[in-house]
Amino acid sequence: MLEFKNVKKSFGDTDVLKDVSLNVNKGDVVAILGPSGSGKTTLLRCAGYLTKADSGKMIIEGEEYDLNKISSKELRKYRSRVGFVFQNFNLYGNKTALGNVTLGLTVARKMDKKKAEEIGRKLLERVGLGDRIDFYPSKLSGGQQQRVAIARALATNPDVIFFDEPTSALDPELTGEVLNVIKQLADDGITMIVVTHEMEFARKVATRVVFMENGDIVEENTSEEFFGNPQKERTREFIYKSFVWESKNEHDGSGI
Ligand SMILES: Nc1ncnc2c1ncn2[C@@H]1O[C@H](COP(=O)(O)OP(=O)(O)OP(=O)(O)O)[C@@H](O)[C@H]1O
Ligand SMILES: [Mg+2]
Repeated sequence: MLEFKNVKKSFGDTDVLKDVSLNVNKGDVVAILGPSGSGKTTLLRCAGYLTKADSGKMIIEGEEYDLNKISSKELRKYRSRVGFVFQNFNLYGNKTALGNVTLGLTVARKMDKKKAEEIGRKLLERVGLGDRIDFYPSKLSGGQQQRVAIARALATNPDVIFFDEPTSALDPELTGEVLNVIKQLADDGITMIVVTHEMEFARKVATRVVFMENGDIVEENTSEEFFGNPQKERTREFIYKSFVWESKNEHDGSGI
C-alpha cells in the first residue's frame, strides 16, 4: 500500500540514509527503532518533504512521488494523503483545540466551517478531549496537546500517519494516555509509522518493527519475531540494552 523506495540522503560527507526501502501494508503499525543519529527522523522528514532527499520515491496506493522533486500541485495531493505528528506538537497557540484540528479542513480543503467543526468535534472526542474543545494549547497538558495534534492529523483522513517520537517530550504518566490513543487508532486499522524509543509500545502495539542503524535498515520483522527471535546480533544487543534500561528506570507509564 505504501512503499519507501531507495531513499538516499547525505549531509556533507555523511550518508545519513544509505538506500532505504520499506514496504508497509494497509493497517500495519510499523515501529521504527534505532539508536540516536541512525536516520529515523531524517527518513520521516524526507517522507514529508520537509527535507529534500537526494533520491528516492514514495509510492502510495500505486501512485509514485519523487522525494527529490515535486510540483506544488502534486505536493498538495501528497500532503492530503499523509498525516504527521511530531515530538513537540507544533500547535498554533492562538487557536483553540478545535481551531487547530479544523484548520487543515477549512484552509487547505476549503471546507465549510460548520462541517469542519462537526468533524473536529468528533475527532477530539475520539482522542478523549471532548471536554477541551475550546481550550487553547497553553491551557492543555503536553499529553492533551499531543492528542490534539493526533486529531489534527486524522482530520484530513490520510492513508497513513507518521509519528516522530510522539511521547518523548512527555512525563511517563502522560506518555500512557498518548500511547493509548495510538493503540486505539491501531485497533481501528489506521496505517501508522511510528519512530519511538518505547519498547513496550513497539512490542505490544506495532505489527512490524524496523531497526535502523547508520542510515540502514538492519532488521525488519513482525513485532513478535523481532522481539522473540531477533536474527542479528546487533538487534539482540539493542533489545537487551533497551529493556535493561527500561526496567532500571522503572519506566513504564505506558499503561498498555
Ligand atoms: N540538517 C542537518 N544537517 C546536517 N546533519 C544533519 C541534519 N539533520 C540530521 N543530521 C545528521 O543526520 C544523522 C541522523 O539524524 P536523525 O535526526 O535522522 O537521527 P535519529 O535517528 O532521528 O536520532 P534520534 O533518535 O536522536 O532522534 C545525525 O548524524 C545528524 O547529525
Ligand atoms: Mg529523531
